[in-house]
Amino acid sequence: MKVLGIETSCDETAVAVVEDGRTVLSNVISSSKAAFEVLAGVIPEEAARKQLECMLPVLEQALKGARCTPKDIDLIAVTRGPGLLGSLLVGTMTARALARSWGKPVIGIHHTLGHLSSTWLERTEAPIFPLLCLSASGGHTELWYRRSHTDSTLLGRTRDDAAGEAFDKGGSMLGLPYPGGPSIERCAKGGNPNAFSFPKPLKEDKGLDFSFSGLKTALKYTLRDLGEISESQQADLAASFQHAICMHLTDRLKQALRTVPDAKEIHIVGGVSANGYLRSLLEHLDVPMRAPKKLSYCTDNGAMIAAAGYFLHEEFGERAYAGFETSASLKAGDVLGLER
Ligand code: KG4
Ligand code: ZN
Repeated sequence: MKVLGIETSCDETAVAVVEDGRTVLSNVISSSKAAFEVLAGVIPEEAARKQLECMLPVLEQALKGARCTPKDIDLIAVTRGPGLLGSLLVGTMTARALARSWGKPVIGIHHTLGHLSSTWLERTEAPIFPLLCLSASGGHTELWYRRSHTDSTLLGRTRDDAAGEAFDKGGSMLGLPYPGGPSIERCAKGGNPNAFSFPKPLKEDKGLDFSFSGLKTALKYTLRDLGEISESQQADLAASFQHAICMHLTDRLKQALRTVPDAKEIHIVGGVSANGYLRSLLEHLDVPMRAPKKLSYCTDNGAMIAAAGYFLHEEFGERAYAGFETSASLKAGDVLGLER
C-alpha cells in the first residue's frame, strides 16, 4: 500500500511516499528555516505564504522521486494539528483537493502520532510492543507508553517549555544560529559538559513530568554574571546546558522504566532525538534504545505522517477515513490512534 504523506505544521513543506508504513520511496522537505534565522523564530503568516509557493513543486518532486503517478497512490495522510493554523490549512486543503481530484481516501493525522511512527521508517526488524517513547521537539516533550500503533497512554509531559524550545532559547542567549538544538550540539563538541552546573529540574518530584524553564533562567543568570564570554566559555556553556537538558530527559526515562518494567524498548523521536549526546546517554540503559534511522526522520517530515496513516488504516480500515477537522491545538486524547 502506497501512502502519500503531507506535513506542514510549522515552517516546513514536506511530502513523502511510503510503502506499507516502512519503505520510504521519497521524502522531500523544503524548509524556510533559513529565512527565519535572523529572527530566531517563525512568523506564522510568512511561513504559510512560503508553503503555498512550495507545495506543488514539492509534491511533484515527491511523486517523481518515488516513480509514482497519482494512480499508484492508495491513500493520502496529512497532519491535521497541532501547529500553526495557516500552515496546517495549506497541507490539509491540498490533501483534500488531491483526494477529490484523484478519487483517493484521505486521513487526518495528529502530528505526535507521526513522530511516534518515525522509528518504523526503513527498519527491517519490527519494533516490539509494549515500548516507551520519548517525543521531544520544539513544541512538545511527552513520554508515552505504547501497547500498539493505536493504543498509547501519556505518562508525562512538560509543565512549561519543550526540550527543543529550551535548546532554541538557550542557543539564542549564547549567540548561536537558530534553531538552537543543532547549533548547541555543534558548539558543545569543543566544550566541557561539567564546566558549569545547572539545577536539576523537578528534583523532589518522583513523577514523570518534565520542566525546562528553570534551566533557561539559570543560563540567563549565569550569562549575566559572566558578562562578556570567550569562545571557550561559550563552548563550555553549550556543553553544560546540553548535558543538563539531556540528563533530565534520561532521568525521566529511567524513572519510567521503573514504572512500566515490561517495556521492551525505548524510542526517542522528534527534533531533539537527533541529538548525539542524548543518544549516547541512552545507550547504557537496561533496554535497547531506538531512534529514527535518519536525522531527517527526527525533525518534521512527510514520511512519518505517511507511516502513521498506514498504521491507522491497518487498524481501523475505512473508519479511519471519517472526516477530520484541522486544528492548531489538538489534544492527544481526542485523536484516533493516540490515547484511548
Ligand atoms: O520535531 P521538530 O522538527 O519540530 C517540532 O515539531 O517542533 O523539532 C524541532 C526542534 C527544534 O527546537 C530544534 O532546536 C530541535 O528540535 N533539534 C535539536 C537537534 N536538532 C533539532 N535539538 C537538539 N539537538 C539536535 N541535534
Ligand atoms: Zn514535530
